[in-house]
Amino acid sequence: MRQPEDLLNPRHYDRVRQEPLEAETLPSWCYTSREWFDLEVKHIFMKSWNLIGRVDRVPGPGDFVTLTYTGVPIIVTRGRDNVVRAFANTCRHRGAMLLEGEGNCKAAIKCPYHGWVYGLDGALQGAPEMEETKNFDRADYGLIPVRLETWGGFMFVNFDDKAPTLKQWAGEIYDTILPYDPENLVCTRRKEFDIRCNWKLYVENFNDVGHIKTVHKSSLQKLSDKYDRPTEFEPRKAEGFTFFCTHAGTRTLLEGVDNAKGFEPIPTLTGRTQRGSFYPTLMPLACFGFCIDSAWALEMYPLGPDRMKLVLNSCFHKDAVKRPDFEKVAQAYYDRMDVAVPEDNAINELMQRGLGSPQAVPGRIGKLEVAVTVMNTWWLDRVLGPSTQPRAKKESDARAA
Ligand code: FES
Ligand SMILES: [Fe+2]
Repeated sequence: MRQPEDLLNPRHYDRVRQEPLEAETLPSWCYTSREWFDLEVKHIFMKSWNLIGRVDRVPGPGDFVTLTYTGVPIIVTRGRDNVVRAFANTCRHRGAMLLEGEGNCKAAIKCPYHGWVYGLDGALQGAPEMEETKNFDRADYGLIPVRLETWGGFMFVNFDDKAPTLKQWAGEIYDTILPYDPENLVCTRRKEFDIRCNWKLYVENFNDVGHIKTVHKSSLQKLSDKYDRPTEFEPRKAEGFTFFCTHAGTRTLLEGVDNAKGFEPIPTLTGRTQRGSFYPTLMPLACFGFCIDSAWALEMYPLGPDRMKLVLNSCFHKDAVKRPDFEKVAQAYYDRMDVAVPEDNAINELMQRGLGSPQAVPGRIGKLEVAVTVMNTWWLDRVLGPSTQPRAKKESDARAA
């Protein structure tokens, strides 16, 4: 489908912004166009809370990680006061990148070019050869802070000073994860995948209940007592939504692995969290799975219209991690992910290739895909501004428009 000249004309998207069962899918250029991707970076990623992993990435003072989020290089470091902060990874002297990779920078961040030194709180502590520079006050040249807040031990950054707090962003969803004792989860494995697809396809697939019996037919679907059950979509007062599925045992082990050989349930579970799995999505693309005995988070980095990086965070309660046989038992959980995640990666790459066809035209949404329309509408509202079109009452009306 050819990208129109008037890309931002909201009329191109009216049929997407309908009730799910009356809606069409996004035009294919939304998944393939560099121009559209750049608009998403500007209007979505520069203004949203973006997941960058768990705080245990920087467990001690001076520990740091660097990363680039949609083109913005940042440093995340823990101060001597135990506060985790993020900064733009660019020197205030003449702009050199300050740190690469990850490690421990002890008490300060030193620029490799002319040796300016910054404290772990970002304050400029030393600036050699600047004593004759006029009107130069070190207090004016600290590192540029990037907003960093945490949610149940998960770190998010936001590049917009005017955005709401992360707690406001997560709204009702925040309380729903509390039974999992999220602050006491430990990320024991971060596994990266380089995927040739648009980031939206990955989030849509995560929230597409209907793909289990096809894409995962040789793996997850074999656990039919856990997967042949309704997974309920739950709108939330939040920038996001949740799904819940009631089933026995855990969904995080494959067929043939005795559930009794897995970890004990997380000790703080209450109510329905003892009898099922819970899947929150925080817009625009942070996806989580909480099971009775473990949790995982999909940390995603959009790299372009047809490429993204996924970091799968596998998390367990600190009580499980203390077990002497932890690594052996955890391996069965990792094995499940190492089967199911590549299945998702492959189908998303096929989606990308199909949508790249000039003959790809919008399709329709089924009852198991309602979250796709909810997300499509949210993304469009960010890029285009809220719709001024009333929603269609009937499918026929929408098509006649
Ligand atoms: S660019 Fe960093 S000290 Fe000169
Ligand atoms: Fe899947």
